[in-house]
Amino acid sequence: MSDTEKITGALEQLFAPEDAALQQALVAAKEAGLPEIQISPLQGKLLQVLAAACNAQKILEIGALAGYSGIWLARSLPAHGTFITLEVSAKHAEVVRQSLDRAQITARTKVRVGAALDLLPTLQDEAPFDLIFIDADKPSYPQYLDWALKLSRPGSIIVADNCIRNGQALVEPAAGDTGSTAALYTYNKQTATHPRLRSISLPMSDGNHTDGYNISVVLPEA
Ligand code: DHB
Ligand code: MG
Repeated sequence: MSDTEKITGALEQLFAPEDAALQQALVAAKEAGLPEIQISPLQGKLLQVLAAACNAQKILEIGALAGYSGIWLARSLPAHGTFITLEVSAKHAEVVRQSLDRAQITARTKVRVGAALDLLPTLQDEAPFDLIFIDADKPSYPQYLDWALKLSRPGSIIVADNCIRNGQALVEPAAGDTGSTAALYTYNKQTATHPRLRSISLPMSDGNHTDGYNISVVLPEA
């Protein structure tokens, strides 16, 4: 076992142990044939720390996958809080509903099925969201950032997964490149330079691959 794996294991045991509902969400995802690309327990706990930092009562997730991150997010809310997660796949959404149900957090949770860029304009009445977690199709990340800014308030926190990609998301792409890493570069660049955001992308290594969150705090209007 590498040092990184040992340290990660010890940190998970201390700060982010998984209970049965989280473990079952992973089993259900695997059984349904979903890709094993969910966040790590430490990344789940970091979302909860950030939710506490912005006193989150309303959380929006773009890209539910199997509901694993959704359990961490919804659990960070008070009982009267609201968690809305957007999922493009009806099949995945069914797995999400079952996993959230097992975690006993369905009362504060809404799973909306459809393309996020179609659903986001329908959320304006429910805004502002205190925390927004972006973890969906990568080419749309710059547009998700635009929507996150529209649907947030000063002090809201916007987190986006996969913003390092072994460093590829930090390399300026060729003109006209419309691929995933090019869009992730654009996301990094826009958050780094946006006058209403204070941002950082943090490298997080699992021992083999370094990816990580971009974390942006929405500043008051100047
Ligand atoms: C992929 C997507 C993710 O959100 C992730 O965390 C890892 C991989 C992917 O599409 O390959
Ligand atoms: Mg991801």
